Amino acid sequence: MPDDDLRAYSEIVIDHFQHPRNAGVLEDANAVGEDRNPVCGDHMKLMLRIEGDEIREARFQTRGCPASIATSSMATVVLTDMRVADAAQLTRQDFVDAVGGLPKAKIHCSVLAAAALKRALADFRERSTMSGASA
Ligand code: FES
Repeated sequence: MPDDDLRAYSEIVIDHFQHPRNAGVLEDANAVGEDRNPVCGDHMKLMLRIEGDEIREARFQTRGCPASIATSSMATVVLTDMRVADAAQLTRQDFVDAVGGLPKAKIHCSVLAAAALKRALADFRERSTMSGASA
């Protein structure tokens, strides 16, 4: 399926692809995770600002297909104001469900958001440990 054939996508995917939410750089992010699909080369960077045990703000930069951009955008919406412990339980299927499903051939595109989230939370834990060690 060509990437620009939007007819195969849900209305939610098309909406988030054409009007991405929370796109751009989050200057005061304290949790950053990236992932790249080795097959297609698509790439996502997820930036979170975590305060206490909640994600207060989420932004993303994704270079990729409509499905990867839509799931990236939706991920930032889902993650905003979510508890870190709950975010850690999210899977790529949660992002697929949140955008109203993806064509079978594009399911793998949701991996970027799930993998970037896992890395961002690991980054946050690492920063917390380091700041705790130096305190
Ligand atoms: Fe690369 Fe969708 S085709 S993530």
